[in-house]
Amino acid sequence: MCGIVGFVGTEPAAPIMIEGLRRLEYRGYDSAGVVVIDGGRLKLAKTKGYVEALSKIIDGGEKLPGCVGIGHTRWATHGQPTDENAHPHISDGGKIAVVHNGIIENYARLREFLISKGFTFRSETDTEVAVNLIQFFYNDGGGLLKAVASAARRMEGSYALGILCEDFPDMLIATKKESPLVLGIGDGCNYLASDVAAILSHTRDVYKIDDDELAVLTAGEIKLYSSELDEITKTPEHVDWDLSAAEKGGYEHFMIKEIMEQPEAVRKTVSPRIIDGKAVLDELDIPDEYIRGLSRIYVVGCGTAFYVGAAAKYNLEKLTRIPTEAVMASEFRYSSPIVDASTLVICISQSGSTADTIAAMREAKRLGAKVLSVVNVMGSVIAEESDWTMYTWAGPEICVASTKAYSTQLAVTYLIALRFAEARGTIGGAEYAAIVEELKALPEKMQTLLTRRENIQYLASLYYNRKDVFFIGRNVDYAASLEGSLKLKEISYIHSEAYAAGELKHGPIALIEQGTLVIAVATYGRLIDKTVSNAVEVKSRGALILGIAAESGAETIARVADNVITIPDVHELLLPSLAVVPLQLFAYYVALAGGREIDKPRNLAKSVTVE
Ligand code: G6P
Repeated sequence: MCGIVGFVGTEPAAPIMIEGLRRLEYRGYDSAGVVVIDGGRLKLAKTKGYVEALSKIIDGGEKLPGCVGIGHTRWATHGQPTDENAHPHISDGGKIAVVHNGIIENYARLREFLISKGFTFRSETDTEVAVNLIQFFYNDGGGLLKAVASAARRMEGSYALGILCEDFPDMLIATKKESPLVLGIGDGCNYLASDVAAILSHTRDVYKIDDDELAVLTAGEIKLYSSELDEITKTPEHVDWDLSAAEKGGYEHFMIKEIMEQPEAVRKTVSPRIIDGKAVLDELDIPDEYIRGLSRIYVVGCGTAFYVGAAAKYNLEKLTRIPTEAVMASEFRYSSPIVDASTLVICISQSGSTADTIAAMREAKRLGAKVLSVVNVMGSVIAEESDWTMYTWAGPEICVASTKAYSTQLAVTYLIALRFAEARGTIGGAEYAAIVEELKALPEKMQTLLTRRENIQYLASLYYNRKDVFFIGRNVDYAASLEGSLKLKEISYIHSEAYAAGELKHGPIALIEQGTLVIAVATYGRLIDKTVSNAVEVKSRGALILGIAAESGAETIARVADNVITIPDVHELLLPSLAVVPLQLFAYYVALAGGREIDKPRNLAKSVTVE
């Protein structure tokens, strides 16, 4: 995720870019840049760091005159956060400049193709492929718009692009696919932006452009085109959100926005890594002999990241047959863990900078293990120091309570499990193919669940004033329960605990009284009857039961539950990826009904960089 902004008019563009980029910093903040056309030439300024660092270099924009410009604030995906990798990127030959939000999945093949045609690359980014591809088609002489359309047709993945060319010093071109982009209609000027928040102080009238459409912006007009380059017309929309709502995409909180972003985040994380029905983890470069020689895996993390480990234990163990344990990083580091060269430690961390996880990683390495990290922030300590790193492409997560990081991290563990299971010969072809298919379908199933959120809001209105809430589940449902309970307590401040349902009778059942809410997560078909029996036990002691079940098991749990939330059926190892969604929504709506400070809950920090 990154932020892009563009302006064409009769006043200096750079200050407008800087102001817009500040508003987009929540979309990415590891580097920033702007390019303008001044005197018919592209003038570029970009740097690693915050927009503030860029602003200093160009004196708030003063040092970069020119009335047409595009700007970018970056969240690194391909290549470290460095000056070279910062956007805008300029084509080989220096004529065309591009800012890009998204991930070009086939960039490696396109890059090879362009190199074979004599293009030279200066960065490690997928974006430089986009700008050179446009230049390649532009060299054919068919015009810039046609070149952009031809390049877009060849790019797989997601993109929103803002494009400038020295040959057309009064014009901007934009196009998009699966990444957000709006066009703002000004008075004698026009804008483009990833998010209306960037331009709201200038205009509230916008065109939303759909996938594959193109736009040509000049100071006086905006022309819209289909992918076939037929001119199309659209009715502008008027935006009446206030600025803070606009930053949140119109949602009340970052948390709900991030919950809603999960299908897209999971798709971006998974789909580039599935090629011809195989989990292809090129970035890992782990030899098969190493995978075959593994005797133990630890999955280590803190908070939500640890609970990803709790779920991953089931899929890693089941598919690879390697004994796998999820351990809290704070415990791992001081536990004299049994670790040697045949041990793999998987460190999970959104920020890549959690103190305990860093210490656990270093301890594992000191003891001779290899470390594979699953990290969201590129260039972070954990990403840098691990033997292998797999990035989640969730974009920045702003809300302290983690949601899309959990979903993308868990999705990555399925890919690791598939890759390892294949190397060890512990998975049959049919099961492998079934899981791959389910992984590809996961974003859509998550989307289905999200469309049912009103029902969950209704249920939250019934239960938001409980004093204690217990979550129970078995196997993967236990893992989902742990995360569901964490979400609820973090943001609603309601006391909640998660128990393996089979343990209830060994103590926790003593806590059940008339009206206690028990959330029975019973999506795992093989053990649904067992969990339902436990639900009956607490119900007969006065508990109210909210059941979470897969569609095929909904009737079974409905016999005992006061209310049931259903999730789509899915391969049993992937169940927590879906079960967690209603639990996140439930926590959110309970906290909302309770009037809590949702995005910044009391006493909690997003990144815990001290022990
Ligand atoms: C804090 C955050 C949690 C997060 C945990 C681990 O407690 O509030 O949301 O899960 O740290 O953070 P990491 O960045 O390592 O995933």
